[in-house]
Amino acid sequence: MASSPLSALRRTVEPLLDRAHVPFSGRPTASLVLLEDGMWIPGVRIESASFSLTQPALLNAVTTAVAQGRQQDVVALVLSRPFQRGEAAYASDLPGGPWEAFAPDVWTSRPGRSLPTPTRPVDPSVRPAQVSAAGGENHAGQQAAGISAARQVAERAYVPASSYPVGAVLEIEDGPFLPGVNVEHPDWTRILCAERNAVGTAYAYGQPDVRRLFLSCLNDPEGTPCGACRQVLAELTPEATLWMDRHSDAPQRTTASALLPGSFRGRALLS
Ligand code: THU
Repeated sequence: MASSPLSALRRTVEPLLDRAHVPFSGRPTASLVLLEDGMWIPGVRIESASFSLTQPALLNAVTTAVAQGRQQDVVALVLSRPFQRGEAAYASDLPGGPWEAFAPDVWTSRPGRSLPTPTRPVDPSVRPAQVSAAGGENHAGQQAAGISAARQVAERAYVPASSYPVGAVLEIEDGPFLPGVNVEHPDWTRILCAERNAVGTAYAYGQPDVRRLFLSCLNDPEGTPCGACRQVLAELTPEATLWMDRHSDAPQRTTASALLPGSFRGRALLS
């Protein structure tokens, strides 16, 4: 049966391999999460020069779904190759399970039921609710819109361990705002920050040219990007302007490269 949901899923995930950022290994991986209405959300492997900060494709897809507020709707996790042990462990601990293998490259939270046929990707863009008409196209208006969007997005953070929601939105060249939130996991080493989630979303959707990043840390007047995010931002979006909102104070402006002077870029490691 040529057009089973399984073969449709494999046909859908395969072209996403081109969006992976794998300058060190040269070995791309792609993923997607399938929602119960047939819509899907992409993820790709994004390598870092420090290797251990690499964002696996499956984690990228899952965290992108959380940032879009669609975590509850996920019925299957799909990879461009069979799941490896670490991916199976990651999937087993996700909420909404129990998760089980449906096929070597597909896990489901609905064992024994058929999967929906994939239709189209979810549109990830965020349209800030509170931007006044006066905001318009000008720079200050866009800045207010970015901060408003980051605050709005922070409400989607999945933070059972910390109760510390962070929201990020990226502005890409002539494009919409793309969201990221922090996504926690019982294994703390698999927790992803809002900033890296947003960058992962930009790559997964094939729009990696980030112009500005708006970050909102509502409960912490000292909130600032962590060292891991500074490393990844310095590698992937060095020229981007970063606006940091801590709610009560005026937002602060910086750039990704200013946050980590003399950062490690790993040029000697390029494959
Ligand atoms: N966190 C971020 O999302 N961004 C940062 O730059 C700092 C830390 C998240 C990770 C974790 O979910 C929680 O905040 C506590 O570290």
